[in-house]
Amino acid sequence: MGYNVAIDGPAGAGKSTISKVVAKKLKLIYVDTGAMYRAMALFMIREGVDKNDAEAVSVKCKEADITIGYENGEQVVYLNGDNVNAYLRTEEVGNMASVTSPNPAVREKLVELQKRLAAKRDVVMDGRDIGTVVLPNAQTKIYLTASSTVRAERRFNELAARGEECDIEKIKADIEERDYRDMHREISPLKQAEDAVEVDTSDMTVEQVVDRIIEICNSSRPL
Ligand code: DC
Repeated sequence: MGYNVAIDGPAGAGKSTISKVVAKKLKLIYVDTGAMYRAMALFMIREGVDKNDAEAVSVKCKEADITIGYENGEQVVYLNGDNVNAYLRTEEVGNMASVTSPNPAVREKLVELQKRLAAKRDVVMDGRDIGTVVLPNAQTKIYLTASSTVRAERRFNELAARGEECDIEKIKADIEERDYRDMHREISPLKQAEDAVEVDTSDMTVEQVVDRIIEICNSSRPL
């Protein structure tokens, strides 16, 4: 097994921003598992599958060949051979992913792919169940969190910078609802692995979080 860093935490805690920088600094491969669940959701949308029909989702997911590669240092997700990165970050795909990602057949398929990646390479992998289910033997496990108020503020600032109108109370309510769904689903719920180190980023800058995580990696990476 390579050197594996598992980073889990709720939506908006900064996992992907932080994981990308940490991976670059430590010369590891960054694997964004959320993007794989989003690619599967995109496939379901394109195929016209009813997201509430669990049986249809289970059957259809067998036809989706999802792989990842790297172009100019960025992770690229291929869906049946096509680069679909440009289609993954929409609200429609995010909403579909939050319903289709708990499906056991979808998880079985993507978890298998994630395990294979980490067996071959030194990776920083982020998601919801990486330290608990995908890489239970990861040498370094981080649980990245922040208060829902801070996460809502960050999202608000991001949208405002793009000129999008938004209501901070509504954003906060959505975040709390998503947390509840992620933490209470039956299969692979979001929870802190017993051996994970919690990093609460509420009062930290990106640089401070990156430094803290590198410190944790340096103290747990095998020589
Ligand atoms: O982190 P994200 O928003 O890109 O994740 C997209 C969806 O996939 C979200 O509903 C959570 C889910 N997900 C998951 O169930 N397990 C993971 N390891 C990563 C993401």
